[in-house]
Amino acid sequence: MTDLENLLQAAQADFAAAPTPAELENAKARFLGKSGRVTELMKGLGALSIEEKKTRGAEINQLKVGIEAALTARRDALAAAELEKQLKAEALDVTLPGRSRGTGGLHPITRAMERIEAIFGSMGFDVADGPEIETDWYSFSALNNPENHPARSMQDTFYVDMKDENGSWLNLRPHTSPMQIRYAQAHAKRYAGQETMPEIRVIAPGRTYRVDSDATHSPMFHQVEGLWVGENISFKDLKAVYLNFITAFFETDQLQLRFRPSYFPFTEPSAEIDIMFESGPLKGRWLEVSGSGQVHPQVIRNMGLDPERYIGFAFGSGIDRLAMLRYGVNDLRAFFDGDLRFLSQFK
Ligand code: PHE
Repeated sequence: MTDLENLLQAAQADFAAAPTPAELENAKARFLGKSGRVTELMKGLGALSIEEKKTRGAEINQLKVGIEAALTARRDALAAAELEKQLKAEALDVTLPGRSRGTGGLHPITRAMERIEAIFGSMGFDVADGPEIETDWYSFSALNNPENHPARSMQDTFYVDMKDENGSWLNLRPHTSPMQIRYAQAHAKRYAGQETMPEIRVIAPGRTYRVDSDATHSPMFHQVEGLWVGENISFKDLKAVYLNFITAFFETDQLQLRFRPSYFPFTEPSAEIDIMFESGPLKGRWLEVSGSGQVHPQVIRNMGLDPERYIGFAFGSGIDRLAMLRYGVNDLRAFFDGDLRFLSQFK
């Protein structure tokens, strides 16, 4: 092996042993630098004859090309290793599933309410909202249910230990019926002194409260009150409206409606409305869905209207019950437990 071949091998070995780019540059200087070994060889050329210079010069140049090639190869290898290291450190697994924000959905009770509002809206009913903390007068007295009347015990009311400015005890409304009075009073006042008054046609959905808790009762539940008062509104209108509502709500006319005599202080006569599906899983069982009746003349009077002129019907339906039947839920409390495994099924 010639001295030049030895030198090339030495350079290749040195470069290969350099673990970092900085050390590689030092190794380069040892061969190609100002006082590097290749430079020393060049300097030695001066002492040679013209002929010898030519051949030796060409050989040294070839050696230089060889050393530079080895240097470039090692630089590339170190850069590639560095990149590899960086990529590993900043590892990004593009096959991982993305982090998405969960999408929410409407609560099944909200959905049921929106359905109810849309259906009654299509029949010309206004939608009203009112307070959940009520006065004794609106919850009971105005509804023809005076203090100490035994009918008050029909509802296990939550009383609030506080009176309003008229000395009336406050309560968490046990039904949406106070909205009959509130809405009708405002309506009557608005058209007072006018020859004719537009009919009152309203539903009032919302939260209601009773001391009650089992698979079909929750201390907080939802009702929708309905009221239609005019000069000639009868039970046949109630039947038509309710049948229309219930078939639209359940999207079937495979059902029957039944009015079962009942008692409420604020309606006379009064009836429970039962429905029975003629097909499906609930087929053949009568299910109670609503209280109803012809608005009692005393209640018409308390609304600020003349019972000799105005007559109508009211109903109060359990929204949770309707939602349970529609969605096939058998425990009402599931609606209020806040368990996403249950609720997300309604998205
Ligand atoms: N408010 C009654 C209840 O909660 C239902 C009802 C409303 C009955 C309107 C008749 C008329 O039980």
